[in-house]
Amino acid sequence: MSREVVSYYEDFKEIEKKIWDLLTNAVTDRSSEFRTPVFICGNDKDLDGRVVVLRKADQKNSFVQYHSDIRSSKIEKIKKNPNCSILFYGKEEKIQLRLKTECNVHFNDDVTKESWDKTGHISRKCYLVTNGPGTESDKPTSGLDNKFDNFDYTKEESEAGYKNFCVIRCKVKSIEWLYLAAKGHRRAFFDLENNKKNWLVP
Ligand SMILES: Cc1cc2nc3c(=O)[nH]c(=O)nc-3n(C[C@H](O)[C@H](O)[C@H](O)COP(=O)(O)O)c2cc1C
Repeated sequence: MSREVVSYYEDFKEIEKKIWDLLTNAVTDRSSEFRTPVFICGNDKDLDGRVVVLRKADQKNSFVQYHSDIRSSKIEKIKKNPNCSILFYGKEEKIQLRLKTECNVHFNDDVTKESWDKTGHISRKCYLVTNGPGTESDKPTSGLDNKFDNFDYTKEESEAGYKNFCVIRCKVKSIEWLYLAAKGHRRAFFDLENNKKNWLVP
């Protein structure tokens, strides 16, 4: 456990800066521990989490976003209850982040267009599955036609995936920060909606 004193140990401003640095860096740094958080959605009878890839973090407008297949069962869940949570943990940084968010599903609009254009040929493969994610199959399957499975498709052919592509934009309502340190853990809560912050017992 860390004995080093970091600038963000007990300074709200520095902590907020560190949080958004971690999130924005994770979007471009494939090796970042904050790149693949757990996204949790559902209702009071059925809550579920899954790993996603962080694709955008915007501090100014307080949102993060990731991509998905519009046919995933989580899409209906998000539409019914947009209050979702995103959980991050960085072992190296010894930082846990718990984001409470209000999510909006973007489909076939300016937001999806911008993200789709940035999505490479290889990454588009996930959106080329014939049936949606979670569809039952009587045999083990990738869900892809052979052609796509073997990367035997052109960038133009990958455009077919756009009809399944969506962007989940998550407006951040609050962030709970936990920093593990040998000299004493620190936990802080940021209420972004009311611009309030306070310390919590870790
Ligand atoms: C490393 C990793 C990254 C993933 N990234 C995404 C993602 O960005 N978006 C997504 O919808 N699913 C992603 N998945 C798959 C989900 O975890 C999940 O298996 C899938 O979305 C189907 O479940 P769901 O429909 O309940 O979300 C990822 C899985 C792993 C292991």
